[in-house]
Amino acid sequence: MKKTVGVIGCGAIGSVIMDYLSKSKIEHLSLKTIYDIDEKKLSRFRDKYGDSVSSSLEELVSKVDLVVESAHVSVVRPAVELCIKERKDILVLSVGGLLECEDLFPRAEKNRVRIMAPSGAVSGIDAVKAASIGKIKRITLTTYKPPRGLEGVAYIEKKGINLNLIREDTEVFFGTVREAVKHFPKNINVAATVSLAAGQMRNMYVRIIASPLLATNVHELKVEGDQGIVITRTENVPSPINPKTSFMAVLSALRRLSDYEGHGLLVGT
Ligand SMILES: NC(=O)c1ccc[n+]([C@@H]2O[C@H](COP(=O)([O-])OP(=O)(O)OC[C@H]3O[C@@H](n4cnc5c(N)ncnc54)[C@H](O)[C@@H]3O)[C@@H](O)[C@H]2O)c1
Repeated sequence: MKKTVGVIGCGAIGSVIMDYLSKSKIEHLSLKTIYDIDEKKLSRFRDKYGDSVSSSLEELVSKVDLVVESAHVSVVRPAVELCIKERKDILVLSVGGLLECEDLFPRAEKNRVRIMAPSGAVSGIDAVKAASIGKIKRITLTTYKPPRGLEGVAYIEKKGINLNLIREDTEVFFGTVREAVKHFPKNINVAATVSLAAGQMRNMYVRIIASPLLATNVHELKVEGDQGIVITRTENVPSPINPKTSFMAVLSALRRLSDYEGHGLLVGT
C-alpha cells in the first residue's frame, strides 16, 4: 500500500514535490495533504488539489505517514516535535533548523521516527558520512554567491562591505560553522547539512565569497581526514520558481523521497 505524504510549504521545492507526487511518479508514495502559511497561495493550490489542504501543522501531521518540510527554519522544531509525538517520519529541507533540534534526536530514535535531511544543494555528503566513521581532521566549505544573494545580511553591513562595488571574487566571511550559522542564518542549509553529516561542528570552517559573475551558488567542499582528502565542487543552477533556491536541492529532495524505504539495489552511503 502507498504511504501518504503531507507537504508543509508550497514554494519552489514544495510545489515541485507536490506535482511529482500527485502524478504518481514515486511508486510507493502519494500526496495526501498540503499546508502553507500564505492563504493566497493555499487557495490557489486548493483549486488544483481540491480538499487536500490542511489548515494547521497539527492537522497535516495527523493525516499522513510522512511529512515533508519545505517551508522555513522556524517550522522545523514544531514539525519535528509533532512528528515524534505522532510517530511520523519527516523529510526536512530547512536543514539549518535541525541545528536547534539536537535534543530531539534521541527521542526520535526512541520512537523509531526518521528525520531525514537530503544532501540538498551540495555534493560530497556521502563522502563526509563515510569519513566520519574514521577521524575527520578538517572540513572547509567555500561558498561562492552572487553579491545580491547577500543583500540585507547584517554582518555584511556591519563590516561596511558595499556589495554594489564588488567587481571580482571577494571573501566576505571566514569562520567556524557556528559563526556562519550566527551571521548568515538564511544561508546555512548547506553548512548545516555538512556538519550534521560529519556529526560534528568542530574543525569545520566556512568561507563565503561574493562572486559578481555568478547567477547562483557554487559550493566547494574539502574534507581532510583518515580517508585522505576529498574535494567536491557543485555549480548550481537556480530553480525556475525561486532563483534563491538551487535546482539541485529540489532534485535531491525528490531522490530522497524515491529512496524512502527503498529495497533492491541501493547505491551510495
Ligand atoms: N537543503 C538545501 O540545500 C536547501 C536548498 C534550498 C532551500 N532550502 C530551504 O528549503 C526551504 C524551502 O525553500 P524554497 O526555495 O521552496 O522556499 P520558498 O520561499 O520558495 O517557499 C517556502 C514556502 O513556505 C511557506 N512558509 C513559510 N513559512 C511558513 C510557515 N511557518 N508555515 C507554513 N508555510 C510556511 C511560504 O509561504 C512559501 O510558500 C527554505 O527553508 C530554504 O531555506 C534548503
